[in-house]
Amino acid sequence: MTTRINLNGDIRQDAHISVFDHGFLFGDSVYEVISTHHGQLCFANEHLRRLRSSAQAISLDIPLSDEQMIEEIHKTVEAAGNPESYIRVVVTRGVGAMDIDPETCTQPNVLIFVKPALQYPAENYKDGINVALVSVKRNPKEALNPGIKTGNYLNNVLAKVEARKSGAADALMLNPTGQLTECTTSNFFFIRDQRLMTPSLNCGILSGITREVVLRLARENGVLVEEGEWPPDVLQNVEEAFITGTVKMIMPVTSLDGKPIGNGKPGPITKMMMRLYQDVLKSL
Ligand code: PDD
Repeated sequence: MTTRINLNGDIRQDAHISVFDHGFLFGDSVYEVISTHHGQLCFANEHLRRLRSSAQAISLDIPLSDEQMIEEIHKTVEAAGNPESYIRVVVTRGVGAMDIDPETCTQPNVLIFVKPALQYPAENYKDGINVALVSVKRNPKEALNPGIKTGNYLNNVLAKVEARKSGAADALMLNPTGQLTECTTSNFFFIRDQRLMTPSLNCGILSGITREVVLRLARENGVLVEEGEWPPDVLQNVEEAFITGTVKMIMPVTSLDGKPIGNGKPGPITKMMMRLYQDVLKSL
């Protein structure tokens, strides 16, 4: 099980970048996390598309084409040689003056981290996790838009710390107008009256790639789907809930603030979505 890091095309066991990189100084970077299934990259095109749109949103030029990026990812995955990989692609603003203005940063740094796949405990999938509704708010879209996947995750770090203090596995955040958004590194879904419901992109969330797959699978399989803007009260009397993300895939949420959701066990729609998602991965 090995880690390899590709820094601007150079693959090493460890890599170092300058302390003057604005990615380090100001969180001025964008990133994506990609996983593999049976060694194949999962949804690589979708991740690279989102990386490019995040970069565009912060006026950062990615110095590689998608084809070049895929080639570099493959080379790094091969060099690491793990059965399954966790891949993190980071593009930083690069080295510049000790000043927030990115003008002086002329060369972005492209890093591809490849590590053995992260695995969450099997109980998380069998029994579900407890999520806390935290006081830390998701950034408003008009500030650092949560739809842009930047290297500045401090807001989510604060939410995670608050959740951990209350003994929860993750944090569910509201936006500044009090509507449900998402968890710290995943999108949130719940089931009410047999409907699969999830906060709309309008609420200020990351447009998750797993979220999109789940919405498509639900529609294709006759599950009623609703994307909307809801206050947390909507979570009273929900039947089931789960979170989605590249690494977590679909993870049941069986309690909120320590109170059971439904009967406190992963429910039938959650289990069905988990099965359907596994089938999609197998077909890649
Ligand atoms: N996180 N929301 C946030 C804030 C995220 O950081 C992520 C992904 C998601 C889910 O998106 P996707 O389904 O495309 O992975 C939602 C990655 C996995 C991470 O930062 O580790």
